[in-house]
Amino acid sequence: MYYSDDVIEEVRSRNDIVDVISGYVKLQRKGSSYFGLCPFHSEKSPSFSVSPGKQMYYCFGCGAGGNVLTFIMEYENFTFPEALKLLADRAGVALPEQEYSAEARRQRDLKESVREINKMAAQYFYFQLRSPQGERALRYLTDRGLSDETIKRFGLGYAGQYSDALYRYLKGKGISDQLLKESGLMQVNEKQGMYDKFWNRVMFPIMDANNKVIGFGGRVMGDGKPKYLNSPETVIFDKSRNLYGLNYARTAKKRFMLVCEGYMDVISMHQAGFTNAVASLGTALTSQHATLLKRYTDEVILTYDSDEAGIRAALRAIPLLKEAGISTKVLHMEPYKDPDEFIKALGTEAFQERIDHAENSFLFEVSVIQKSYDMKDPDGKTRFFQAVAAKIAEFEMEIERENYIEAIAGRYQISFEGLRKMVANVLMQGVARRKAPISVAQQRQARPEKEDGILTSQRLILTWLTDYPQLFATVSSYIRPEDFSDELYCEVASMLYAQRKEGAVNPAQIISHFTDPEQQRAVSQLFHTEVKVENPREMEKAVRETIFKVVEHTIAQKSRSLDPADIKGLQELVDAKRRLQEIRKLHISL
Ligand code: GTP
Ligand code: MN
Repeated sequence: MYYSDDVIEEVRSRNDIVDVISGYVKLQRKGSSYFGLCPFHSEKSPSFSVSPGKQMYYCFGCGAGGNVLTFIMEYENFTFPEALKLLADRAGVALPEQEYSAEARRQRDLKESVREINKMAAQYFYFQLRSPQGERALRYLTDRGLSDETIKRFGLGYAGQYSDALYRYLKGKGISDQLLKESGLMQVNEKQGMYDKFWNRVMFPIMDANNKVIGFGGRVMGDGKPKYLNSPETVIFDKSRNLYGLNYARTAKKRFMLVCEGYMDVISMHQAGFTNAVASLGTALTSQHATLLKRYTDEVILTYDSDEAGIRAALRAIPLLKEAGISTKVLHMEPYKDPDEFIKALGTEAFQERIDHAENSFLFEVSVIQKSYDMKDPDGKTRFFQAVAAKIAEFEMEIERENYIEAIAGRYQISFEGLRKMVANVLMQGVARRKAPISVAQQRQARPEKEDGILTSQRLILTWLTDYPQLFATVSSYIRPEDFSDELYCEVASMLYAQRKEGAVNPAQIISHFTDPEQQRAVSQLFHTEVKVENPREMEKAVRETIFKVVEHTIAQKSRSLDPADIKGLQELVDAKRRLQEIRKLHISL
């Protein structure tokens, strides 16, 4: 469905952003803005701001931002049309309907249809579990210690004995083979045609963060193989961007998240009250998972299986989580295999105790490394400490290194000074090859500093133009939209200038020109650039100097690309340089 800019703008402007966000986040007024705890990352002091003037929100902590539509897309995990629909309904705006048959309309939005089919399937499996045919499956689940309430909460179900039951059911609902093929619920082969992917299995619906069913895991009841079948990736099911249990865990309001391997582990932990548990979907943890987790927490406790594979999985996950800015601990389950078995055997309190004693991920890594050295042999021992020293040397802050030297010295009976000297040696050797590859996280941190100069100045101009529209006359006589170096800045500046020409600036409307939440976030960043100033006088000085910087940069660019034979161009340049000096004397009043 295509909606015109006018419709979008009507819906947006009829939903006051403070009203809407107040329904999700507790806001408090501070000056001309409202502040609250950011719903997109975990924090203790409020850095999430909502501006009634700009009709935008922005988090100074994590950079999330946008207009009221962005907020609904991000918070509810909605597509643009879904967010528009919700807000239109809220404000009583009737969205234009297009005249299509039910089937044709479904075709128009494949994602929507695949979502609908998965939902129908979940309802079907849920119903089967409670029917006489589902008796054995229900017994399987209760025998595994799941309460009725838990079974209901996780929407567990049963795929019956026949391999075409779901197919026939969905056909009966008028779904085309084409869509069924996209749903991930069917298999096709030449002899049998299309038939169910899942049969005679207990079914675990997989929900996204917004409680929408996006796929399934199905387990055999007993020892058959394969133990689990999972939905393949579809237009709505991306295994590397979803986590089982996140729909509940994200509202658990705990300081950390428990990350485990299996569906049953998540369910057991939730049943025992650890509602902050999630699992990846039968695949290894990815960097996208880490980024997703970072939205909700700064700390992860890995509760992977205690076997060899679980240890390897933990070793892979730790650096990914670190890259995303999450600190990790490792929970030890011995002598049990996984959280499900542990909780069943020792109970909730014992599990809580293991959480309290979860091991720092660095010490965990070291303990794994240690296993490959013969600590009874003096050479082996030396090599082990050399390896550890090299690892400690990777920490950037001295205090971190000292803390780990102390922890390792205590644990492995080596003197603090001895280990410290080894670390110092590694660092000395390292100075020579400092050009070693830098991590993604470091690059990410380094980038804003590099581009700091001129791009920040240009962003400041855009922010100020929306904060103090009275600056427009001055700014526009020196800076044109095409003077902004970045394509996005340029585009946003053109729209801002055009709005001003027509009347008042409306930054929130500019945001709805971009339908991708990432772009919307980037645009709202442009309108929320900060500068630290003490008083209005300093602010005016900052404005003057920033205009100067931007103009100076434009002139430098031009003079670099100027053809020496271009007399007219040269004259313009001289003129521009003269005008540049005027800026120093500009009177700015805010
Ligand atoms: P239970 O044995 O029922 O307690 O399940 P579990 O979660 O403890 O199983 P396990 O630790 O063996 O596996 C962890 C996760 O890996 C499961 O939840 C599945 O997502 C996935 N998995 C396990 N076995 C298979 C399999 O045979 N095929 C596929 N595709 N995934 C599997
Ligand atoms: Mn298990």
